[in-house]
Formats: sequence, C-alpha cells, structure tokens
Amino acid sequence: MTQRTLVLLKPDAVRRSQVGEIVRRIEAKGYALVALELRTATPELLAEHYAEHEGKPFYQPLVDFMLSGPLVAIVLEGERSIEGFRSLAGTTDPTGAAPGTIRGDLGRDWGLAVQQNLVHGSDSEESAAREIGIWFPNL
Ligand code: PPS
Repeated sequence: MTQRTLVLLKPDAVRRSQVGEIVRRIEAKGYALVALELRTATPELLAEHYAEHEGKPFYQPLVDFMLSGPLVAIVLEGERSIEGFRSLAGTTDPTGAAPGTIRGDLGRDWGLAVQQNLVHGSDSEESAAREIGIWFPNL
C-alpha cells in the first residue's frame, strides 16, 4: 500500500542543523521525496494545520514555536509511509522516545518552555490528504 504523508521538520530541526540527518534517515528507510521546501509558516496556515488542537493548553505555545523560524515541509511516498514515518520519528516526548528514532536520538526536551520534538508526521490517511493539501495545494 503506497502512501504519501506530510512531514514537517520543525524550526528546532533547522536551528540545530539536523535537516540533513533527518532527511538521510528518511531516504535510508527507502521513502521517496515527492516535495521538499524550506518554508516560513503563517498563523493562518498553522490554524488550519493544527485545527484539531485549538483550545488545548499547548496550542498557542505550539503555534508560537512553529512560527519561531523556518521549517522544512516534505511530502514523502512509500509503502505504508504514514505509520512508517511515525515509527521512524518515535514517540512525541523526546525523553521517552526509543533510541534509534529521530526524537530518541536527536530530540532535546529538557529546560525548554515548549516541547520541541523536531518533526511532525501525519497520523492517518485522512490527515495526510488534508495536510498535503494545506502545505502543497498544487500537488
Ligand atoms: S493529543 O492531544 O494527544 O492529540 O496531542 P499530541 O499528539 O501529544 O500532540 C499534538 C501536537 O502538539 C504538540 N505538543 C506540544 N507542542 C509544544 N508544547 C507542548 N507542551 C506540546 N504538547 C504537545 C506535539 O508535538 C504534536 O505536534 P505535531 O506537530 O502534531 O507532532
């Protein structure tokens, strides 16, 4: 089952010069890069992207963090890539993420006001279609 998924390398990944390492892991896994762009998010785009989290306590800190610098938006394609990328990423909280995962190996979450976990990956086929449409409307 070939799937496309939307991946964001969050501003901490760009600031900490981890873009190459994360893209290397994506390619090593065998996923194809369909689109890859350095982007600056806007409040409007993030309101759409994170609509399901509006009203949660972490919503505004998360949006502010995502606006704090450039990010890399990627569409990747591969066999069961939605589940596969999330497995590559590791659990949301970097401290608990397994060694060998992006967040487990590269994530830092101590001494930070907001969670900075390097990457976002769509969590279902429905989310992937919606999120790809938000970030890459021409795909
Ligand atoms: S939920 O409520 O279970 O759906 O939330 P969760 O899946 O754990 O997280 C959803 C996204 O919110 C981010 N998040 C945070 N960002 C900053 N600060 C805090 N405290 C925080 N808590 C959760 C989390 O990284 C997820 O971001 P994405 O971009 O979807 O991976």
